[in-house]
Amino acid sequence: MTQANHPPQHVAIIMDGNGRWAKKRGLPRLLGHRAGGENMRPVARIFADCGVRYLTLYAFSTENWSRPRTEVSGLLSLLSRKIDQETQAFHEENIRLVHLGRQDRMSERLRKKVRAAVELTRNNTGLTLCLAFDYGGRDEIAGAARRIVDAGIRGDDIDESVVARYLRLPDVPDPDLVIRTGGESRLSNFLLWQAAYSELYFTAVLWPDFGPQDVEEALSEYERRQRRFGRI
Ligand code: FPP
Repeated sequence: MTQANHPPQHVAIIMDGNGRWAKKRGLPRLLGHRAGGENMRPVARIFADCGVRYLTLYAFSTENWSRPRTEVSGLLSLLSRKIDQETQAFHEENIRLVHLGRQDRMSERLRKKVRAAVELTRNNTGLTLCLAFDYGGRDEIAGAARRIVDAGIRGDDIDESVVARYLRLPDVPDPDLVIRTGGESRLSNFLLWQAAYSELYFTAVLWPDFGPQDVEEALSEYERRQRRFGRI
């Protein structure tokens, strides 16, 4: 008999489908993003209650800068507003907030807000919520290569553990489960290094509709998967 997996320690989600959620209702896309933003804390709560220790949410990719200007600025304002309105609630829920991605392309004001939210919650002991914003897997790996060269590490001394140490969040374990909502089946430059052996779960449910039942389905599907990590 095969044994069921433990709850995943780290779940990572590609929150896709906000635009279609809005379109179905005849609303502007940004209202879809707003609805998606409102779903982040409740979903984080459910995963935390199921024993998940790390949750990474993909909110803005390095490629998303090429969306129309109004959508980009809407997403940046949404991030800013979410930090203002919800950091305290995350803090009270003992959630530790971490930012994953670049900070050099956001305004000084937004960068300070992000850093303050991370600082306020840094000693919290509950779920670690990594918000991937201006994140791309290839960008992260290229950055790790740059930092390895800058540290003067010789080619012969570079192995997988060295590269992993130079990624942005070396202390966060690799995701056990990557979920993508919205019906597409691809990784879209998300956690390319870290997801090497993640279980992938795709659902057609649009992100703003992703609720407790969907979490349960994803986790029970994960439980049934046989993880072999290249072994037999
Ligand atoms: C993909 O849906 C979603 C995004 C590119 C943004 C995800 C953002 C949120 C869930 C909320 C924002 C939160 C913060 C903190 C900024 P899509 O627009 O590609 O949807 P579509 O495929 O239906 O068009």
